[in-house]
Amino acid sequence: MKLRALVLASLLIPITVCADTPEQAAAQKSQEAMKEFGMTLKATLQAAMKEGGAMQAIPVCHTEAPKIAQQMSAKHGVDIHRTSLKPRATPPTEWEMAVLEGFEKDKAAGKPVAELVWKEVVEVDGKPTLRMMKAIGTEDVCLTCHGAAIDPAVMAKIQALYPHDRATGFKAGDMRGAFSVSAPLAAAQ
Ligand code: HEC
Repeated sequence: MKLRALVLASLLIPITVCADTPEQAAAQKSQEAMKEFGMTLKATLQAAMKEGGAMQAIPVCHTEAPKIAQQMSAKHGVDIHRTSLKPRATPPTEWEMAVLEGFEKDKAAGKPVAELVWKEVVEVDGKPTLRMMKAIGTEDVCLTCHGAAIDPAVMAKIQALYPHDRATGFKAGDMRGAFSVSAPLAAAQ
């Protein structure tokens, strides 16, 4: 009886440990956060554009995008936001800039934007933390506010809210920016 229990235990332990390392768990959490963040942002943008076009959607993005980032961070237990080499609201930190530059190089070498993903585990304030980034592509609908030929009234609205805006001049297929997530690794059991 005892032996059987031992054999069973030795069979079970490696499975539970290997299937879900703290790094894998953090990566999964980060992916879920990015997916839900992206979907929520798009739904919010689409609803605002439908209701009042870009002139209404700009102030909605301005107030809602940071709020949604905070909500998603709290919900998923991570720190999530978007950033870009040509930012409107959220300039990259030094490490984010290095990752974004790497993405641009990989893209120039032929890698599709949808496949530009990066992650690494680092110590942040003495705690192991997974950092993950995933590129965001530029679609036609984005060009109203991020393109090369923006309506002057729309541009004026953008500039009133973001005097240092650099997030224009994009074309469909460009990398607009990326999600950036920092997820603390849970202590190993
Ligand atoms: C109605 C205008 C509008 C449209 C359309 C729009 N955006 Fe934006 N975008 C904004 C505004 C305003 C911000 C700044 C939000 C903030 O204050 O956090 C922004 C910020 C961003 C950021 C954050 C990085 C930065 O520059 O600060 C990314 C990434 C982004 N947009 C991608 C997209 C993508 C991808 C699309 C198309 C699917 C899109 N946007 C469509 C207005 C728009």
